This record gives sequence, C-alpha cells and structure tokens, in this order.
Amino acid sequence: MDTLRVKLPPAPRIPKALQGSVFTLSRRRTIEKFARRYGKAFTLDLPLFGRTVVVTDPRLAKQVFTANPDAVGNIQPNLSRVLGPGSVFALDGADHRRRRRLLTPPFHGKSIKNYEQIIEEETLHETADWPEGEEFETLEPMMRITLNVILRAVFGADGAELDELRRLIPPWVTLSSRLAVLPTPKRTYGRYSPWGQVAEKRRRYDALVDTLINDAEADPSFDDRTDVLAMMLRSTYEDGSAMSRQDIGDELLTLLAAGHETTASTLGWAFERLSRHPEALDALASEADTDDNELRQATILEVQRTTTVIDFAGRHVYAPLFELGEWVIPQGYSILVSISEIHRDAAAFPDPGKFDPQRFVGVRPDTNAWIPFGGGTRRCVGAAFANMEMDVVLRTILRHFIIETTTSSGEKWHSRGVAFTPKNGGRIVVHRRTT
Ligand code: HEM
Repeated sequence: MDTLRVKLPPAPRIPKALQGSVFTLSRRRTIEKFARRYGKAFTLDLPLFGRTVVVTDPRLAKQVFTANPDAVGNIQPNLSRVLGPGSVFALDGADHRRRRRLLTPPFHGKSIKNYEQIIEEETLHETADWPEGEEFETLEPMMRITLNVILRAVFGADGAELDELRRLIPPWVTLSSRLAVLPTPKRTYGRYSPWGQVAEKRRRYDALVDTLINDAEADPSFDDRTDVLAMMLRSTYEDGSAMSRQDIGDELLTLLAAGHETTASTLGWAFERLSRHPEALDALASEADTDDNELRQATILEVQRTTTVIDFAGRHVYAPLFELGEWVIPQGYSILVSISEIHRDAAAFPDPGKFDPQRFVGVRPDTNAWIPFGGGTRRCVGAAFANMEMDVVLRTILRHFIIETTTSSGEKWHSRGVAFTPKNGGRIVVHRRTT
C-alpha cells in the first residue's frame, strides 16, 4: 500500500504578511481573486487561522462536511473565545455530539411553529412607524426584530429582563463581533478598554440569565413553556445529567450571536435585492396575499445564495493526514469552505451572477452547492428557525407595505466582523397598503 504524503493545493507566491492584510481588509475580493486564479482549492497563511486550505468546490466541500468529526473538527480559534467554554462552538467530538442532541429538538419544525406569532407581532410592532415615501435603512429594524424574537422565543424573556437584555445586547454584540476577528490579548487592559467593557457586559448578562432561569423554574406553567430556555432546562443528557447554568448562559448567548445578526442581514439583503428586481417583487407581493409561500421560499433561497452573509464554514484538521480530493492535508491545518464561492458554481447554478428566484421554484437546491448554513454535523442548528422567521417577516411586510423599486446600482458589501451586510443598510422606500 502507498503511504500517504502531504500534498497541498497551490499557494500564491506573496509574502505571509501581505496575504494576511489583504485577507483581513478585503476577504471576499481576495478569495474571489485567488479562486479565479487557482481553482477549487488553494493554500494560504492567515492571521488567526495559520496555515489554511480554502475550498471553493462543492464536491470538496461535501468531503470536508462529511469527514469523521474526530478527524476534522471545529475551526480554531472560533467564536467560543467571546461566547464562553459552554458554547457549542467550544465543543468537538463526543462532547459536541452530546450537546447537539440536546440543542436540536427545540429547533425542529414542530417546535418552532409556536414562534410564528411572536415573529408576526414583533414585525408589526417594528414597522408601525415606518415612514412613507422616504428612503430608510431596513437593516437596523431587522436587527431589532430578530433580537426581540430570539429574546422572547429562545430566552423566554419578558418584562424587565426583556427590556434590559434589549438594551444590553446590541452594543455588546457589535463590539464582540469586531473583537472576534482579532487576536485575544492576555489581559483586558482595564474596564474602559474594549475587552474590559465586554467583561463588564458579560457580568450583567450572567445575572440576567440567572434571573430568567429562577423565574422559569418557579413558573407554574413551566412544563408547558415552549421557549428554548425552558426546553433546555427540561432536557437531560443521555446519562441523566442536566446542562449547568454556566453552560446554559453560554449557549443562549451563542444562539443569539449566531442567529440574530445573520438573519437580520439576510433580510436586509432581501429588501436590497427585491427593490432592484421589479418582476420578482411584484410576483412576491401578489403571493403574500394568499396562503402560498412557494415563491417566497424560492426568493429566500436565492437571496441566501447570491448575497451570502456568512462566507465561510471553518474546520481544523486533527487527524495526522486528511485526504481531500487529490490533496493530502496535514494535522494542524485549518480548512475554510468558501460558501460564497461555492454559491457561484456555474454547474450547480447556471448564470450564477443573476438574481433569479425562479431557479428554485419547484426545485430543491443542490445540497452540496447551496450551503448558507454550512454542512455535516456542525450545520447551523437554527436553519429551520431562520427560514421560518425570514418567511414570516417578509410575508408580514409585503401584506402591509408596497415597496418601491429602484434602478440604482446594488449596494456594496460591508463586513460587520462576522456577517456581511448591505453597505447602506438595505435602503428602501415604502407606502402603506390601504386594503
Ligand atoms: C440566515 C440566518 C443564518 C445563517 C446564514 C447561519 C449560518 C450558519 C453557518 C454558516 C454556520 C456554521 C456551520 C458549519 O460550520 O458547517 C452556523 C452555525 C450555527 N448556527 Fe447559524 N445561521 C443562521 C441563523 C441561525 C439561528 C437563527 C440560530 C439559532 C437561533 C443559529 C444557530 C447556530 C449555531 C448554534 C451554530 C453552531 C453549530 C455547531 O457548531 O454545531 N443560526 N450558522
């Protein structure tokens, strides 16, 4: 038998420091350029992730996602640096499998049906004072809707705790997602430094989560509650043990950090795209008056494909060697599956640059090439929740507003640290419907 030898994909011949700075400053454009030049995989040396293989081909992505999780685990470092050691992002192998078994049921189709009403209420509340006839950003309103939805549906918060979490979280998430892409310093540099502020907000957050848990456990209708916190409190691991309070706090924060900005950014892009595609918008507006959602679902799929808010799913090679297509990647390497490049795969999506929701009408997307939620054992826990939330938000808005179309060029990309948003905030002009 042949012994395996390391065989890496091509690497650009530019100095490490330059690779790092172009990647940090302009990640999307850099990857696009390298993908055009080197094809389906290439090797980079990056800040934070070190020696890294970037994958831009659906078949290779599938191989990464379906690899044995003990051989190819979670990317290092990852968001657990800011979310805490109890976050699912911090877990690998058997610990990760155990946690996923506990975390998945609350996000199944049947459980999330209960949240539709919360989503509609929050959308109506947020849009009640939308201005008519003047341009405004949709991104911030979408951020407030998705935050409030998670706080109510996932944290089970209401009253004073809901209000305080609403105030505490947005500046904290903004700061943390900026810091998440920087190296962690050894100390916090005092309470006025960004790391010191993050630590202070964390203390207030932990106290609030403690109150939420105490209230939930004392609630006479605890057994019937449908929020994710109550479900987490009621469930146990296979050995009968329960999640610790610290782990619950870290995990709720993880669900919020992973689910709030991503969903809002996708919705912001939906408005940006639809206002520039009159035909698609027209058909969608007519459909919203019915109980159908085939076109709305196709539109959501196409928005996620063309304006992908999370551009990478990352893994770390733990096995001594990992065979990936024609290459052999050594232990310690990072692998970044470039979701946005794979979404441009012309074999899977003819005329990939075109925004065309019709391509998904009556057609299920190719699960190897349509991967906005990543794949394999680490695929997004909240995918069905996010899909349902986007569907209900869009439906509610289309039922109450007419969105004006524009001939102005598309908004540019803006990196908020983790998610990519439309640079001008997905600006639109609306009129309230009279019927
Ligand atoms: C449009 C909205 C969303 C997008 C685009 C998105 C995208 C992603 C991606 C790309 C990953 C990494 C998957 C991988 O490594 O293979 C992920 C993981 C995750 N997402 Fe989402 N997500 C969204 C909404 C949500 C929501 C609403 C929640 C929960 C409320 C959520 C919770 C999570 C969690 C907990 C993980 C980590 C899973 C693990 O490591 O096992 N996400 N998401």
